[in-house]
Amino acid sequence: MIVAGNWKMYPGPDPAALADKLAGVSGAEAIVCPPYTRLAACVAAGLTTFAQNVHWEHEGAFTGEISAPMLQSLGVTGAIVGHSERRQYFGETDEGVARRTKAALDAGLRVIACVGETQEERDAGETETVLRVQVGAIAAACGPHESLLLAYEPVWAIGTGRTATPAIAQEAHAIVKSVLDRPVLYGGSAKPENVEELFGETDVDGALVGGASLVVDTFAAICALAAAAGR
Ligand code: PGA
Repeated sequence: MIVAGNWKMYPGPDPAALADKLAGVSGAEAIVCPPYTRLAACVAAGLTTFAQNVHWEHEGAFTGEISAPMLQSLGVTGAIVGHSERRQYFGETDEGVARRTKAALDAGLRVIACVGETQEERDAGETETVLRVQVGAIAAACGPHESLLLAYEPVWAIGTGRTATPAIAQEAHAIVKSVLDRPVLYGGSAKPENVEELFGETDVDGALVGGASLVVDTFAAICALAAAAGR
């Protein structure tokens, strides 16, 4: 099991305090994804640290972007790519997400590539098609690369307090894996109260946690539940 904390544009907890707390949890991998300004402090605290995005070029005139080698120079070992907030608010496309993913993997970073349907798409019965298209773009660019993780994050569950039921998550994860056979993390209002059931599903391989990753004890509790799932 893998539990990644996506701090989004929040300062997040004190990295040293978090590292201390996580030292008491074994049996699950914990990853933190802080904002750029806190990457170095998380690395220094000994946390496995991913960025929240990465560009496909090594350098160039791309204002506001960051490259894989730049992240690696800080000791960062991976990146989230294609988060729905990037797709929704910053116009990221399946093609761009695939390019970012491939470049990051080629550079030696690990990647958590995110996919997921909106409420409208689910209501229209388009969930499977949407997932197949989103995952298909990544699959075409990279195949089942050993450093690639996927995250199923239904957009309607992100930051809303509405979590997918274990059955909904399982069904979606199975679709994702049928296109690209890599571990799939669940994301969307994951918290200690609901992850145990989700981790009981065969194709749920961990969690990508937003809000609940901002509090040391809560994030550590989710990591402990992942470890208790025993795989
Ligand atoms: P949430 O965010 O846990 O706050 O819903 C998850 C995510 O966006 O990765």
